[in-house]
Amino acid sequence: MTQKPTAPAQNPPARSIELIVNGEPVRVEADKSASLLHVLRNDLRLNGPKFGCGYGQCGACTVHVDGIAARSCVIPAVGVAGRSVTTLEGLGSRESWHPVQAAFNEAQAAQCGYCLNGMVMQVAALLARDPNPSDERIRAELSGNLCRCGTHIEILRAVAIAAAAMAGPAETND
Ligand code: FES
Repeated sequence: MTQKPTAPAQNPPARSIELIVNGEPVRVEADKSASLLHVLRNDLRLNGPKFGCGYGQCGACTVHVDGIAARSCVIPAVGVAGRSVTTLEGLGSRESWHPVQAAFNEAQAAQCGYCLNGMVMQVAALLARDPNPSDERIRAELSGNLCRCGTHIEILRAVAIAAAAMAGPAETND
């Protein structure tokens, strides 16, 4: 008995998605299975977010969705239609770093730098919500961001520097 040849698998049809990326409205064509990370890197050429594990486990792809840190590798692009996405490129600029970027630079908190996008984005989201987090909270917040180079001590120092910078000068009672 012969089997009927099956038709080759078809890619799902592309869908037009509108979203806000780094403050600008954009429209992209993406198929239903495309991740937000794929669209950011391949369609919008925003290479701040990195592809690490692809399973939401390493944090390299972290962006902000409506101000909340999120793993862009496991979020379907169609799932963020109409929402606001911020990537590392939208956090600061070459001319004017975000305080978290400046703090990571000051603390020399990078070796290979691959995790840096995720660390910076995670910390920026944390400090926006909680300007004075406890050590315990910082460690818990960064527990899902992996650094294989072992710069964790410098990263924690960077968080302290950023928190102090964002808090501004201490008030005195003079
Ligand atoms: Fe997204 Fe690892 S690449 S969490």
